[in-house]
Amino acid sequence: MSNGIPDAPDTGATALQPGTFDGQTVLVTGGGTGLGKAIASEFARLGAKIAISSRKEEHLEAGRAAMTELGAAVCVTPCDIRDPESISNAFDTIEKEVGRPSVLVNNAAANFPVPAEDMSPNAWRTVVDITLNGTFFCAREFGRRHLDAATPASIINVGASYAWTGGPGFAHSAAAKAGVKNMVETLAVEWGPYGIQVNGLVPGLMPHEDMTADIRGNLDRTNDKDPCQPALRVGRPRELGWAATFLASPYGRFISGHTLVVDGANWQRRSLTNPNVVSVRDQMGKGPFSAQ
Ligand code: HXC
Ligand code: NAP
Repeated sequence: MSNGIPDAPDTGATALQPGTFDGQTVLVTGGGTGLGKAIASEFARLGAKIAISSRKEEHLEAGRAAMTELGAAVCVTPCDIRDPESISNAFDTIEKEVGRPSVLVNNAAANFPVPAEDMSPNAWRTVVDITLNGTFFCAREFGRRHLDAATPASIINVGASYAWTGGPGFAHSAAAKAGVKNMVETLAVEWGPYGIQVNGLVPGLMPHEDMTADIRGNLDRTNDKDPCQPALRVGRPRELGWAATFLASPYGRFISGHTLVVDGANWQRRSLTNPNVVSVRDQMGKGPFSAQ
């Protein structure tokens, strides 16, 4: 009988020593929801002061409440990562309130399922602008501040496995995430001499309560059931958080330019024979394409 990969330890467990991030500030973009909140929570449990930036007040307040409940000092700042000036202002506020972040988790991203032939130019631009350009703008602001101060630091870019495989129904996001993965490799080499470690971190399917209606609907139409994963289970958001804290910890220092996939081997699932092909239009219940 196969039981799959055993479940994760309970929420609150940790492999790192308590206080690993005492005195440090960790900035998680989009840290008020979903996986970003899970990542921020693990840093908070290990003593970090947390900064959270995103656009929506309700997300920022949800992040603040979660960090406060964990006993962490927290600063939330509105920021649209498409706008470099908004990023710079957010960094100024964070530095004033909780100190310069030594860790940046570029977690914020945008995504919705849409067949490529239906995707408007603005839909493509919006996802690429947030996911790829926004990630670079945040890394740039963070890197410049650390180069100027000659301080070591760590960047973690959250990616997706369709950066390697392509993502039918997600042409914009898959292309943007491929860029994000490539950026990790470039920045790690450029900024290594200045003590800045740069890595990617890729979650597998990790359902959570904040998933947008579009993404949730897509999963409901396809399959997020445990038996469809090689691990015979989906991932837990805290498993991504543990990986992030390890990468940014003293024990992960020599890991740089790497993208770590936390998905129970789902992205490696390949076979010469596969289930019948179903077009993205059919998967999404869309009728035949019409240019009108
Ligand atoms: C087709 C869509 C669309 C949809 C928006 N657009 N939603 N097109 N299908 N479902 C189009 C709009 O019509 C518009 O184009 C353009 O995209 C911009 O839309 P706006 O609403 O003006 O953009 P904005 O207010 O900036 O909001 C950005 C957003 C939104 C990306 C559209 O969904 C958002 O804020 N998302 C943030 C959270 C998120 O996406 N989380 C998912 C991360 S999960 P036109 O041509 O009409 O002007 C992830 C990996 C999951 O990344 C992996 C799953 C397995
Ligand atoms: P989510 O809950 O929708 O989080 C996305 C976050 O990004 C939100 O907090 C949002 O906050 C923020 N954001 C979006 N656009 C922004 C902008 N322009 N400026 C600043 N912040 C912005 O999604 P998630 O599932 O947790 O995803 C987190 C990361 O994991 C993403 O990088 C995603 O691509 C990746 N991922 C997730 C899965 C999964 O199974 N969940 C799988 C593969 C990859 P505001 O709305 O307040 O701005």
